[in-house]
Amino acid sequence: MFQVARNILVTGTNRGIGLGLVKELVKRNPPPGHIFAACLNPPGPESTALQNFANQHNNTHVIQLDVTDVSSIRRAASEVESHLKGQGLNLIINNAARTSIDFFLENVDQEDMLLSYKTNTVGPLLVVKEFLPLLKKAAKETTKDKVGSPKAVVVNISSIASSIGQGFDPSLAEVPPWYQYRASKAALNMVNACLAVELKKDGISSVLIHPGWVKTDMGSERAPMTVEESSKGLVKVIAGLDSSSSGTFLDWEGNKIVW
Ligand SMILES: NC(=O)c1ccc[n+]([C@@H]2O[C@H](COP(=O)([O-])OP(=O)(O)OC[C@H]3O[C@@H](n4cnc5c(N)ncnc54)[C@H](OP(=O)(O)O)[C@@H]3O)[C@@H](O)[C@H]2O)c1
Repeated sequence: MFQVARNILVTGTNRGIGLGLVKELVKRNPPPGHIFAACLNPPGPESTALQNFANQHNNTHVIQLDVTDVSSIRRAASEVESHLKGQGLNLIINNAARTSIDFFLENVDQEDMLLSYKTNTVGPLLVVKEFLPLLKKAAKETTKDKVGSPKAVVVNISSIASSIGQGFDPSLAEVPPWYQYRASKAALNMVNACLAVELKKDGISSVLIHPGWVKTDMGSERAPMTVEESSKGLVKVIAGLDSSSSGTFLDWEGNKIVW
């Protein structure tokens, strides 16, 4: 089992599932040491709910992080490092992502495709790259965890829409082609597979999780699940991870998703 109650970074936390994850993680018993709640624009009105929440929880720090901007990711990594005062970062949840309403071939747009790769594929990879020294530090820390429990984990939030085997199930709402979103998340799946292989020697696990179809700006009001249900499921699955989970693609209930 993965000991969630340590130091955690979540991206894209000013709304949607990211904000739900921060609220769920705070409830862990014992509570996490530090939760770094990253968002694009901390002072903006779109971050008021997150700021208000963080003001009531002294282990929650709101930090600026644009996943498409390497200098912003680097600044965030050094801010996190200074808060941690020599400790490692045990968990990164790469949650931030974008989509567009252009579902079909006639709407495919080069800029939109490339921005989706930059945000949904390259962004999570660069976050892991820049925070790697802190993940490695966590992986080396001496703990009383059971043998086989990872001490440092990357969770890449993917989507069943990226699964070639399951993503076109007619019972899902996500049936339209949706090129930019499905393709950039499928590329994220391969990024995760590479991370799982490369980071194994450092004792760091990397896992993909689909959060369900959730009522957010992205998921729409038609979605059957609430942010609270999804976040609770995600945190439960993360808490149940062991080293053999690395490289797998799970859903919010821990079921395996086919590629
Ligand atoms: N909702 C669903 O049904 C569903 C289903 C499958 C997978 N997912 C996945 O679950 C995750 C969360 O989705 P959601 O439904 O909560 O989406 P959402 O409501 O659209 O929220 C997206 C979040 O990502 C942030 N973000 C976008 N671009 C960013 C950037 N360049 N740098 C940093 N943050 C950025 C947004 O910030 P701003 O507010 O500043 O734009 C926002 O906080 C995503 O990875 C998504 O693909 C969602």
